[in-house]
Amino acid sequence: MKGAICYYSGSGNTALACRYLAAKMEGIEFDLIDVTEAEAVDTGAYDVIGFAAFTDFFGPSQVFLDFVDRLPHQDGTPAFVLSTHGFISGKTLRIMEASVAAKEFRVVAGHALHTPESYPPMIVRGRDNEQAPNAKELSAFDTFISELRRRLLDSQAGLGGASRPVRISFLNSLMPSRPRTSARKDMGEKYVDEALCTECGICEKGCPYSAIRLDPRPVFDMKKCYGCWSCYNHCPEKAIYTKKFRGVGHYPRPIDLLKEKLRV
Ligand SMILES: Cc1cc2nc3c(=O)[nH]c(=O)nc-3n(C[C@H](O)[C@H](O)[C@H](O)COP(=O)(O)O)c2cc1C
Ligand code: SF4
Ligand code: SF4
Repeated sequence: MKGAICYYSGSGNTALACRYLAAKMEGIEFDLIDVTEAEAVDTGAYDVIGFAAFTDFFGPSQVFLDFVDRLPHQDGTPAFVLSTHGFISGKTLRIMEASVAAKEFRVVAGHALHTPESYPPMIVRGRDNEQAPNAKELSAFDTFISELRRRLLDSQAGLGGASRPVRISFLNSLMPSRPRTSARKDMGEKYVDEALCTECGICEKGCPYSAIRLDPRPVFDMKKCYGCWSCYNHCPEKAIYTKKFRGVGHYPRPIDLLKEKLRV
C-alpha cells in the first residue's frame, strides 16, 4: 500500500510527527510532501493521503488550506488528518477535515498531538510546553497510529475498515476562529536590526506568504503578511524584531526533548 502525507510545518514539529507516524505504519509506504514545496500532487498515485498542519490561531494556516484547494476532486480516496499544537488546537482538525472532505476525500481518522510551543509570545510568557507530549499524549498518538494502520490495511483487504469520525473536545469546539487580521495586528510591524542582518535572504525565501523582499535587507509587505512569525523564528541572527519582542522566544526547530520522544 502506498501513501503520501502532505504537511505544513513552520518549525519542524509537525514534520517530525509525520516521520514518526510514517515509520510506524508497517505495510504502508509513505512519501512525505512539504506543501510549501509542492505545487501539485499526483493523488492518483496513492492509496491513502494524510494531511498534517500545525495549529495557527486555532485553525490550520492559509498556506495549507490553499494547497488542499489546489488538489483535484477525488472519488472517496481514503485520507486522515493530523495536527500539532502547543496549547489548545481549537477547531483545527475540524477545519482540516472539512477542507479535505470538500475535495471528496473520505476522511477515516484524525488526531491532534500536543507538542512544544512555537509561538514566540507564548514562549516568552513561560508557556513553552517543552514537556509535551506527556506519556499519556504520546500513548494516545501511538494508539491512533496503530488503529489507523489497521483500518487502512483492513480496508485494502476488503475487510471493512470503517471510518472513525474526527472528534474534538468540547473545549476545543468552543474556541472561536480568530480573524487573520488580528494575528497580523498582534505581531505588528517588523523591524530589522541592521547591525545583525547579514542579508542572507533566509527570511525572504522562507516567508510562506511572499511578504518579504530583500532590498538589500528585508522589507515587509504588511498587506501580505500573515503574522506567522516564521521570519522571526528562523532568522539565524535573530535580527528581526517587533515592538514587543526582540531577541527572545525563538523556536526555529524541534527541541531535543521532542526529537527524543519522536525518535524513529
Ligand atoms: C503563528 C502561530 C500561531 C499559533 N497558534 C496556536 C494556537 O492557536 N493554539 C496552539 O495550541 N498552538 C499554536 N501555535 C503553536 C504551534 O501550533 C505548535 O507549536 C506546533 O507544534 C508547531 O508546529 P510546527 O513546528 O510544525 O510549525 C502557534 C504557533 C505559531 C507560530
Ligand atoms: S534572515 Fe535575518 S540575517 Fe538573513 S536577511 Fe533575513 S533578517 Fe537578515
Ligand atoms: S513576513 Fe514574516 S510573519 Fe509575515 S508572513 Fe512572512 S514570514 Fe510570516
